[in-house]
Amino acid sequence: MAHSHSHSHSLVRVKFFLLVLVVSFPSLLPGGGGGFQGALACTVLFAGRSATQDGSVMASHSDDGEGDSDPRVVRVDAKKFPSKTSYPRRIPNSQQNLRNIRPDVETFPRFVGSGYGETYEPTQPWNAKYKPTTPVGSIEQVDSTYAYYDANYGFMNEKQLGMGESTCSARIAVPAPWRPGGEAMFCINELSRIAMERCDTARCAVQLMGQLAEDHGYYGASAGIEGSGESLVVHDKNEGWVFHILPSDPNRTKTSANWVAQRIPDDHVLVIANMYVIRHVDFTDTANFLFSKNLVVDAIAGGWYTPKTPGDYSDFDFTAAYSDGEYNHKFYTGRRVWGAYRLLASHLNLPADYHNLRDDAPYPFSARPDRKVTAQDFFRVHRDWYENTPFDMSKHLAAGAFGVPDRYMTEGTTGVKGAWERSIALFRTAYSHITVSRSWLPDSVGGVVWLGQGAAHGTSYVPLFAGANRISWAHSIGDPSSLNRTSVWWSHRYALNVARGMRFMDSHKFIAATQSKLESDAADLVSRVSTSGDPPTGDSLAQLSEDHVNRVRDAWWSLVDTVVVTFADGWHTTTSQVGAALGYPSWWLETVGYENGPPPPHPHDNKEEEISVS
Ligand SMILES: *[C@@H]1O[C@H](CO)[C@@H](O)[C@H](O)[C@H]1NC(C)=O
Ligand SMILES: *[C@@H]1O[C@H](CO)[C@@H](O)[C@H](O)[C@H]1NC(C)=O
Repeated sequence: MAHSHSHSHSLVRVKFFLLVLVVSFPSLLPGGGGGFQGALACTVLFAGRSATQDGSVMASHSDDGEGDSDPRVVRVDAKKFPSKTSYPRRIPNSQQNLRNIRPDVETFPRFVGSGYGETYEPTQPWNAKYKPTTPVGSIEQVDSTYAYYDANYGFMNEKQLGMGESTCSARIAVPAPWRPGGEAMFCINELSRIAMERCDTARCAVQLMGQLAEDHGYYGASAGIEGSGESLVVHDKNEGWVFHILPSDPNRTKTSANWVAQRIPDDHVLVIANMYVIRHVDFTDTANFLFSKNLVVDAIAGGWYTPKTPGDYSDFDFTAAYSDGEYNHKFYTGRRVWGAYRLLASHLNLPADYHNLRDDAPYPFSARPDRKVTAQDFFRVHRDWYENTPFDMSKHLAAGAFGVPDRYMTEGTTGVKGAWERSIALFRTAYSHITVSRSWLPDSVGGVVWLGQGAAHGTSYVPLFAGANRISWAHSIGDPSSLNRTSVWWSHRYALNVARGMRFMDSHKFIAATQSKLESDAADLVSRVSTSGDPPTGDSLAQLSEDHVNRVRDAWWSLVDTVVVTFADGWHTTTSQVGAALGYPSWWLETVGYENGPPPPHPHDNKEEEISVS
């Protein structure tokens, strides 16, 4: 996801186009109606097989929405389609041989229709007020597709193919297909899903997504250039690739796309935070670089790259050529990249400051970690608000008396101009996941997703297995406008909101303790499944995950009650002590003028003192 709310002009434009759309093409309106842009801004991490403790390949993604984001996770079944040759007399282009392409919708409900998970079925009560999604086009279907986990993007299939996504600025923006002049068919969301359906290696996924985008056109998440590019980290059980894409310039090329991919060194970790990271591209090294046909000629034609020696492209820098730099504010990207590397690769001693992130290139493409990492290290990074650094968001007056690291969206609510620091942990994260692929195990249990619905600092990561044959309703219920206690997302969201209002620095300790206990139980579960001589499959894998997530959800609902009882009305209440005053931190009392509050009562004379007052 990109993040477009700071760009009030483009938001206005989005709303305007939406209005035009409602009036002129009502049948094109996808289920959700408003906010095609979704909401946008995500952090991605990666670790290669020689950078992890157990030799797994891992990537992460946080899906950072704006309150209307669809947090539901589904499992799409494997399918077989009758091939054309077995139906020689079929009408060409009949439905069965086509794979419909959905529009880019990340708001609730991201899809209403059949074939992609039960929660999307038009007959579900939460879909009652929405119309089925109208496809924006179609491509030829294949004979069979793999099963995969999906949300706003596909993220793990039954062959251990994993992905994480982050929207980026780019030099070129083209209209979405439902807008005037919109001709490109593919958003990154659908590209990721088709790769999940058809590929068992990262290289296959990169080439397939690139080719489909070149053939049918790619459009970005936002109407403007601030979110018109995309990045995916794509991995299989052996290797990981960074994939960057942007639209092609319609003034020069037919509807197409520009893209590049770089293999990440096996002993490295990598961070992407809403800006491209691929710099120099070695066009002769196809073991490590893949790219679109017109990548260089389009950059030259656009005036964004001039080779020092004509015809010699060895000094081509993809980010310099095609990125529009950070969006939202300076440090919107850079702070997170710095913040993540400080936790994973502190030996780099990266500078926290720079002049211009695109042109200075102060941060590496990828780096060797301080020590080999685990999925739990990635949980920690996703929960980071720069503790114990000059940017610690739980400190100072903006965090209030009780150290709240979250900063609500402010733009458009006030005439005061400014910006908030952007932490990696984000209260508006709809879900985050760490995908883990392990080459030495059968795919069904080797592929594990650590899924955390809700903000990372308020979630409990739970394991899903690549070979499970279904997903629990706890993961597939999540209408932001309607509380449903079946939903683990609602349980996490509810608890974090309660904690934020109840002495956060104290109540969050209850959340952290519950996280730590349940995530350690979950690690035991994954380890039991992984070391079993006869690993469970299909339904039993699904059941193991379901039993665990149900336990997590129930623990979270009771956590809310515990926090309320313990901190109600500013008292500290436990089973052995009722109503001890907790007050406020001294620094805060001094800051808000407590010492200058109403003075002590007027001095009493002797007579009055004898009167007992109650
Ligand atoms: C294409 O050309 C038109 C007319 O000059 C211009 O307004 C538009 O911005 C161009 N599009 C891109 C993507 O550069
Ligand atoms: C809550 O979710 C359950 C599915 O687990 C569903 O049966 C029920 O109808 C939902 N309730 C509401 C109010 O949507």
